[in-house]
Amino acid sequence: MEELKQRILRDGKVRGNNEVLKVDSFLNHQMDVAFLQAIGQEFRERFAHCPIDRILTIEASGIGIACLSALAFDKIPVLFAKKNKTKNIAGDVYISQVESFTQGKRPYNIFVSKEFLRPGERVLLIDDFLANGSALSALIDIVHQAGAEVVGAGIVIEKAFQPGGDLIRSKGVRVESLARIKAMSEETGVVFCD
Ligand code: G4P
Repeated sequence: MEELKQRILRDGKVRGNNEVLKVDSFLNHQMDVAFLQAIGQEFRERFAHCPIDRILTIEASGIGIACLSALAFDKIPVLFAKKNKTKNIAGDVYISQVESFTQGKRPYNIFVSKEFLRPGERVLLIDDFLANGSALSALIDIVHQAGAEVVGAGIVIEKAFQPGGDLIRSKGVRVESLARIKAMSEETGVVFCD
């Protein structure tokens, strides 16, 4: 998505030992809603002709993107996996573990109420970043636990130099990433795959 690549080049900042792309001015802290709407439209076009019953994402950053995408998909419901099992999500839940590759961070569980994910449903996964693929793997696991089907994954930014894209595609899941980063550094900036 050309508009996204231009926005990353203009507003993105490479940080954290060249491992983190900060896009919090428009994507995952402050949110440019009109731009997120365009992102939703792009996902709609890429998954045109795929019947989809539900969008599944993970809190927190995926939620806004998933909601605006849902509007483009004729207002299908958005479900997000929670990172804490609060009282509000008591009862029957699907649970999966997200491995963590970030130093100092522990693996954690995510939860989805069984009430909102049914066998046979066709589910589109949406998230802001695909890096190591651990969050997406856990979402796929939950869809499978429910006896539902993964239609594909819509990712805003794939860090193609990290293993997540290969991992998820090797599971047979169609991954549509709107921008794929080949390399990045504070000195040279961001280089896209295509
Ligand atoms: P994964 O999402 O592919 O599993 O990747 P990983 O475990 O490596 O990433 C851990 C968290 O860091 C995820 O957010 C992911 O979206 C985010 N992340 C990974 N790479 C980048 C990056 O280059 N820039 C930014 N801004 N974020 C990155 P999370 O733990 O789910 O938190 P949340 O932000 O959704 O609340």
